Amino acid sequence: MIVDIINKKRLGRALTYNELNYFFNGYLKGEVKDYQMSSLLMAICIRGMSDEEIFALTKIFIESGNVLDFSDIPGIKVDKHSTGGVGDKTTLVIAPIVASLGVPVVKMSGRGLGYTGGTIDKLESIPGFKIVLSDEEIIKQVKEIGVVVTGQTADLAPMDKVIYALRDVTGTVSSIPLIASSIMSKKIASGADKILIDIKVGKGALLKTKKDANKLSQLMIKIGKFYNREVRTIISDMDVPLGHAIGNSLEVLEAINILRGKEKKSNLVDLCIQLASEMVSMGKGITVEEATVLVKKSIKNLSAYDKFLEMIEYQGGNINEIKVNKKVQKIKSSKYGTIVGIDALEFGKLAVSLGAGRVNKEDTIDYGVGIYLEKLVGQKVRRGEVIAKIYSDVKLDQDFVENIFVIE
Ligand code: URA
Repeated sequence: MIVDIINKKRLGRALTYNELNYFFNGYLKGEVKDYQMSSLLMAICIRGMSDEEIFALTKIFIESGNVLDFSDIPGIKVDKHSTGGVGDKTTLVIAPIVASLGVPVVKMSGRGLGYTGGTIDKLESIPGFKIVLSDEEIIKQVKEIGVVVTGQTADLAPMDKVIYALRDVTGTVSSIPLIASSIMSKKIASGADKILIDIKVGKGALLKTKKDANKLSQLMIKIGKFYNREVRTIISDMDVPLGHAIGNSLEVLEAINILRGKEKKSNLVDLCIQLASEMVSMGKGITVEEATVLVKKSIKNLSAYDKFLEMIEYQGGNINEIKVNKKVQKIKSSKYGTIVGIDALEFGKLAVSLGAGRVNKEDTIDYGVGIYLEKLVGQKVRRGEVIAKIYSDVKLDQDFVENIFVIE
């Protein structure tokens, strides 16, 4: 039976709900072995899945754990998810913006994956900040202050967790049906009414082409319809890192700068305004243009920053205690020109190698290390001008780092 199911998919035929359920739940019980699951996942990667199979797999993932119910919290709860990027600290900025405008936000975030950072690791760089909350604590906090950013609870789509770990080491992460069911199962199980997905595309993203990003977008919207959830998607660039900072503490400090109105222009600021506006539009039932006016106002009058401080304090964090690495190496440009590219993948890998992410699951993170890009794409540089700062005790080769920038 197990081999028959693998062969059926290998030949490109659609599996039934019962076959998928038998196989995936068999894996959780230990009856289906790692090598058999790996083989089926690879067959799915190569052969794809029909919409019915994807809906079935999403259902199997959701039903492997608890589904949270926030229906007694007033207002439309809007969640947002990014498919993963380098320097992506948007959640830290937009959750308080959206909440400050009266739209409740319950955001369950993940840890870093490969060379992409995770919001939970970033938040943990704030001393004292508590990321493990019970369902009761989450509900109490949203009711009282309108926003909570927390780690995924252990019983949220637990099957996805084990399958994802296997995909990570078997070359089966980039399958669009598998990505869609993985993300959507977690979003639906975490109880939001409406969901915004930021699909990253480019060198530093899981998806490398716009065509694949469009396919994923359509699939996620279809899964949302099946579950009666409004899903909107944004396809955004991940050829270059988002904003200036890559590394946990540095990224939190950058998010704070944006919320304090100190940083007004970068690809990160633009994306935060775009995402927050979509969320506010969904939550309040107004146009994106109307929402954008409110979003900009909430940054300008510091109400979003006040909400951020309220959330951090509520969850026990102290932003005055955030530490960055004391030793800093300056990387200078050896020529005159304009920055036309900054390789997100290379900087993502570099940040992980400094200790900002994990190479193995059990690695601990050094929250204070990272990279600060002094110059962004489109900016002019002079010879000898500092283009990046490396927060690490390890001294890097100047040419190696400079060559991650494309200066023409
Ligand atoms: N993020 C997820 O949670 N799942 C995927 O499959 C890819 C990115």
